[in-house]
Amino acid sequence: MSANKLDKLKLENFNVKWDCENILWVIIDCKDKSENTLDIEVLAEFDKILDFANDNAKELKGLGLLSAKKNFIMGADVNSFADLNEHNKINELINKAHLIFDKLDNLKIPTACGINGFCLGGGLETVLAFKYRVVLNNQETKYKSSIGFPEVKLGIYPGFGGTFRSISQLGPINALTMMLTGKNLKPSGAKASGIAHKLVDTKDKLRWTIRRKLLKLDGKIEKTKAGFFKSLPNNPLISLFVYNKFKSELKKKANPKHYPAPYKLLDIWKESLSDYAKMQKLEKANFAEMMTSKTARNLQRIFYISNAMKGLAKSASDKSIRNVHIIGAGTMGCDIAIHCAGKGYRVTIQDLSDDMLKKAKTNANKFFKKRLKKPELIKQAMTRFIIDKEGSGLSSADVVIEAIVENLEVKQKLFKEVEAKVAKDTILATNTSAIPLEKIAQSMADKTRLIGLHFFNPAHTLPLVEIIKSDFVNQEFLEIGAKFVKDMGKFPLIVKSSPGFLVNRVLAPYIMSALKLEDKGTYNKETIDKACREFGMPMGPIELADTVGLDIMLNVAKELKLKIPKGSKVEKLIQDGKLGRKTNSGYYDWKKGRPVETESVDKNIDLSEIAHTVLSPLWVEAKSCLDEKIVWDKDRQKSSDLIDGGIIFGTGFAPHLGGALNYMKSLNK
Ligand code: NAI
Repeated sequence: MSANKLDKLKLENFNVKWDCENILWVIIDCKDKSENTLDIEVLAEFDKILDFANDNAKELKGLGLLSAKKNFIMGADVNSFADLNEHNKINELINKAHLIFDKLDNLKIPTACGINGFCLGGGLETVLAFKYRVVLNNQETKYKSSIGFPEVKLGIYPGFGGTFRSISQLGPINALTMMLTGKNLKPSGAKASGIAHKLVDTKDKLRWTIRRKLLKLDGKIEKTKAGFFKSLPNNPLISLFVYNKFKSELKKKANPKHYPAPYKLLDIWKESLSDYAKMQKLEKANFAEMMTSKTARNLQRIFYISNAMKGLAKSASDKSIRNVHIIGAGTMGCDIAIHCAGKGYRVTIQDLSDDMLKKAKTNANKFFKKRLKKPELIKQAMTRFIIDKEGSGLSSADVVIEAIVENLEVKQKLFKEVEAKVAKDTILATNTSAIPLEKIAQSMADKTRLIGLHFFNPAHTLPLVEIIKSDFVNQEFLEIGAKFVKDMGKFPLIVKSSPGFLVNRVLAPYIMSALKLEDKGTYNKETIDKACREFGMPMGPIELADTVGLDIMLNVAKELKLKIPKGSKVEKLIQDGKLGRKTNSGYYDWKKGRPVETESVDKNIDLSEIAHTVLSPLWVEAKSCLDEKIVWDKDRQKSSDLIDGGIIFGTGFAPHLGGALNYMKSLNK
């Protein structure tokens, strides 16, 4: 009888089974999707299941939710909500979602869920409405930060009841930290914060632990509430201190004018504290405004672009990269090697200098100790990081990445030698910042195997890698290269081999315009840098020039044939050996890796006007790159998005503006 009743639910995204012990097993398996995400249809089906559970509460012992996919739930389906522009439509959806999650929270039978892998945003809001939560903590999931609220990164805050459910169950400190930073927790962190009631080490145990719990409860419902100490910050006297602390931390990271959502969330908490009904009301009341804000729209745009960039990394080839050989253990080679070894590749690293290799090993050890913490993981990573003075890794390398001095003849000579020592299908890549591939390849017997993999400094942190494409490249090698970059957790962007590629080409005229303005003496460097930071750049252009190195910066500008006025300050500084951060002196003096500001920011001036003057060469150049088809885009549908993505992930261009071309378009409206 029950099976018949279940059939009538006509579910496409869930498998539901009523077992012989009267547990209702709900297995989420979103139709035609590789991952589970919550859209309107999925929520509506879930609602029907909850009604079914309530209607049969007398016979059922409990409801258990599991996922049939590799991960649990990745969050709300951003695509399905993207077209919602009107407040009343958003409110309608949010109210519906709240009714469903309230129904789950107040279900007449005990509920339990088993979380395998990623459980994000709406997924986490779902599980917080469950009474008992078990999290998979096996070799695969143990070290992955996979449970969290990423909403702030999309310009919103949790809107399916996540605010009050997390604060009431985990306490304000744990819950606000997660929601305001968007940082994920590992399973052990989920246990410590109160999200997980139990960790298990196999997938089977998820089901068995839920079963045991539901049978033991025998219909009794246990609520989860944060204990006395965890709830203490809700005390009005203590809350003020906590509020101010969170706010000052937020201010260091995000300008409230550009990123209003986390500030709004903090205010919602301050206004409601432990009045959770009020918090729910405020969460709903303010959500539509956040969702339709320009910031949210732009950040969501970046989210799509980042997916499109990952989508570029398609390769029909069954060749996969496992062995990476890196030549050059300097700033870039060392960082690239550390990143690759950290991601599981076997890396051999070669350099002429023993000192550089020794330094690279020390850096790798330091990095892994800080990042991986667990001795077994550090040991494994260091085993994959192999010092290789003689270059014996060349013969087994799937890819060779060259990161030696930026000198054409030296690079040509190296590639000629390397080519003779590697297998026929080894991909040869250069990390050159400016030399055209056509020139480097002149010395090679088979130039089709040369691609550019242009990482940014520091390579283990910056998300973009430009994949440089020559006219003669073997397309298969290029695609494998792009897939390799995606697999190592970075965003690949395929760019034509031309001076400055994309990122340096747009950055150089912007930095030069700032240096020229400073040279004129109209504004001091502190004012120019502050204006650009206020605009949303991660760092001012003059500080950036010092950071890159004035000599390198000027070389790129010359390569791009930018006009450098005779007797300019930058040339004088270089002549005096003041190259920026690396010599502790450039435009700024540098102390402990930080620039020392000597002058105060000019008062009574329009910082926004200065930022526009300095930054406009950047978006003008971005438009030229679009016109010249610098970025490779198969059907030319996404070129402008890809350029915006490249500039954001390569330069940090104000993410809340959705990219340089997007912003330029908004100025012309
Ligand atoms: P670096 O000067 O820090 O390191 C170069 C290393 O290559 C040195 O350790 C040197 O001993 C070694 N080397 C030189 N010739 C060699 C050879 N024939 N065989 C083996 N090792 C050799 O240079 P950096 O900054 O790491 O740059 C490397 C490449 O990456 C350059 O092409 C540069 O344009 C490019 N790049 C640099 C960026 C940066 O911010 N530094 C950013 C993006 C690309």
